[in-house]
Amino acid sequence: MTDTKKSQHSQWSSRFAFILAATGSAVGLGNIWKFPYITGENGGGAFVIVYLLCVLLIGIPIMMAETMLGRRSRQNPIETMKTLAKEADADSNWHYLGWLGVIAGFLILSYYSVIAGWASAYVLKAFTGSFFSADAAEIKSLFDSFVASPVQLIFWHSLFMLATMLIVVRGVNSGIERAVRFLMPSLFVLLMLLVAYAMTTGSYDQGIKFLFTPDFSKLTANGVLTAMGHAFFTLSIGMGAIMVYGSYLPKDVSISKTVFLIAGTDTVVALLAGIAIFPIVFASGLEPAAGPGLIFQTLPIAFGNMTGGWLFGILFFVMLVFAALSSSISLIEPAVAWLVENKNMSREQACIWSGSITWLLGFGTIFSFNIWSELKIFDRTIFHLLDYLTANLMLPIGGFCIAVFAGWIMKHQHTEQELDMPDAISYQAWKLLISYVAPAAVFLVFLHVIGVL
Ligand code: TRP
Repeated sequence: MTDTKKSQHSQWSSRFAFILAATGSAVGLGNIWKFPYITGENGGGAFVIVYLLCVLLIGIPIMMAETMLGRRSRQNPIETMKTLAKEADADSNWHYLGWLGVIAGFLILSYYSVIAGWASAYVLKAFTGSFFSADAAEIKSLFDSFVASPVQLIFWHSLFMLATMLIVVRGVNSGIERAVRFLMPSLFVLLMLLVAYAMTTGSYDQGIKFLFTPDFSKLTANGVLTAMGHAFFTLSIGMGAIMVYGSYLPKDVSISKTVFLIAGTDTVVALLAGIAIFPIVFASGLEPAAGPGLIFQTLPIAFGNMTGGWLFGILFFVMLVFAALSSSISLIEPAVAWLVENKNMSREQACIWSGSITWLLGFGTIFSFNIWSELKIFDRTIFHLLDYLTANLMLPIGGFCIAVFAGWIMKHQHTEQELDMPDAISYQAWKLLISYVAPAAVFLVFLHVIGVL
């Protein structure tokens, strides 16, 4: 890449702007929609412990590595891998890692946008009073009839994709930074209020017990894989999203401190969502393993029956849509940055292309909830297959390669200089985690799933 192209590459206005954007990317449907339902499907406590361990031992070191790779090269993920491989005298095939990420981003966004569309539709449902005094059965049938309608899902998916592209087209500084500035604090406050409501349901203890009392007999090999995959998904790592955000990061920012802050916030939000949702699940006699509809079948009960629930419900789903938007833009930014920097497209063209592809792919997920719900590939609906393929396979494989690259391929003095840790011990700890612990853990979980272990 030429120097002029490199200098076109944008930069965040401050460390705070990066923190906002990366937290915006991390906190999203993964925390509020996905974490509770997969925890419910996998039996609770034991799953949560494995997830937390994965965040700490695999997620955080890889997130630091991914940010570092991006910042060192200041280019899009495909070019980053090319340049850094060259710098380390390594094989040029490393740039396929960038490709894997771009494809994973498209696939994830294709279903992410459909679910974010559900959240958008629920803003309207909250507004028109659909939840008012409703019981669990009514809320469930409201959800069931909604997802049974391809037309409605297509409408909301299209709207969400359009909103995503409108933000991305404005670029990192004006579009992305501004979009996340107010969202995080507001979402946080609403979640705290929901937790307060959960305490009044009479099933608070049961919810807490489900989340935090481990019963390892309930955890399957696939459950362990799901927990690990979710650590990648929720931190937005393994596909180049954090790499591209890191590439906009000024040189003088401490990567380790920043990453701890972001991962910590992300984890707290997920746990708060779980603490708010499970008491409602038990108080209403619902199934924790209800699947992807879980929050849409539980939270409206709370909104329909609490004082001020009308306004509160609207605000909550609005926040959820915004949290999803600040995540979805990071799923498509690697592809857009690459098209602009290497294929000579304007940002508009790049957005139209990548947005259209993702939008079309989304139809697969939409139909898997209605007209194609019986269609199973490898025993899974299209939605489940996409989710499994991306979160459980592509992200961990991407993360594994990032770890190997940062731990074994890059020159020691380069990683040390780039990370600029406060002391030698923390650098050594990172080095140990990234070179041995993280890659070995991913590998062992894979072996466990295919039954070798
Ligand atoms: N982390 C986001 C969430 O939890 C989803 C997401 C955004 C993501 N960008 C990503 C997942 C990149 C994997 C890779 O909702």
